[in-house]
Amino acid sequence: MFPKQRLRRLRKSDGMRRLVQESHLSLDDLVYPIFVGEGLTEPQTIQSMPGIQRIPPSMVQEEMKKIQADGISAVMLFGVPKTKDSLGSSAYDKDGVVQNAIRETRRSTPDMVIMADVCMCQYTDTGHCGIYRKGAVDNDATIRYLAEIAASYAKVGVDIVAPSAMMDGQVAAIRTRLDYEGYTDVAILAHAAKHHSSLYTPFRDAASCAPKCGDRSGYQMSYANSRQAMMEVAADITEGADIIMIKPAIPYLDLVAETRRRFDVPVAAYNVSGEYALVHAADAQGLINKDAVMLEMLGSIKRAGADIIVTYFAREVSRLLR
Ligand code: PBG
Ligand code: ZN
Repeated sequence: MFPKQRLRRLRKSDGMRRLVQESHLSLDDLVYPIFVGEGLTEPQTIQSMPGIQRIPPSMVQEEMKKIQADGISAVMLFGVPKTKDSLGSSAYDKDGVVQNAIRETRRSTPDMVIMADVCMCQYTDTGHCGIYRKGAVDNDATIRYLAEIAASYAKVGVDIVAPSAMMDGQVAAIRTRLDYEGYTDVAILAHAAKHHSSLYTPFRDAASCAPKCGDRSGYQMSYANSRQAMMEVAADITEGADIIMIKPAIPYLDLVAETRRRFDVPVAAYNVSGEYALVHAADAQGLINKDAVMLEMLGSIKRAGADIIVTYFAREVSRLLR
């Protein structure tokens, strides 16, 4: 006897397939990362990330208008400063590259959701995500600076700060500082489980933030660990994170799904520079259908349970989603 259930019945036509589709990719879910280069007068191409540029501060407003016209309503700002020092002081300068870009964005596109990365690696002379003391990144010294950076973004109108340094207690330090200064409505998107990944290479080129000595395995997570990722997520929620992020995305979809099952906060996934570069490199060689692969990858991140996807594909995919 053939089983009564025949799953192909619901795959008969386009309409039927759409009717039973379980997850949907929407422009509303996408966050577009942007690199702003202090001192630039023209956009600069990033060799390893086709289609992505470092933009000059003078072009932030027109760029934001174009992004909004593409149907994207959220951006994540990364700064590439002119100067680096041992305390990463250009990261919390009131006229720093990100602080100015936040102001400009608020002016050009008042309803854009503005997120900004909170980290030190672009700003420190060591290229590490925190203050380096006695041959190591000093956790407790660093989180004070991270709070300082977050407060300086809040002051100029950021909506969401996104700490990515993987320091213990960074979310609590930032929440306490924001609340103390009256920025109770600035939200925190925590890079809760950020892995020590080889897929960040193109980003380090874009943001010029590769560590000068050693690597980030003393603070970022090993890709071998998933229970530890759940501890990171739980800790960040306890510390006051509003949104939890898993990073990278595609090779870590098990963690996205597990976070979705265990917790009720919005879950974000960061589809990182290496994931983007792989697709573009294969496309340049004519090995894949880029648009189809892009849709499948982003769709899979949704299926795994992400509410929000930070992706360099946001603008390319907007053509297909509208
Ligand atoms: C630095 C930072 C990195 C990324 C985002 N913030 C690189 C790193 O940790 O070395 C990677 C993002 C990407 O690859 O797209 N805190
Ligand atoms: Zn960093």
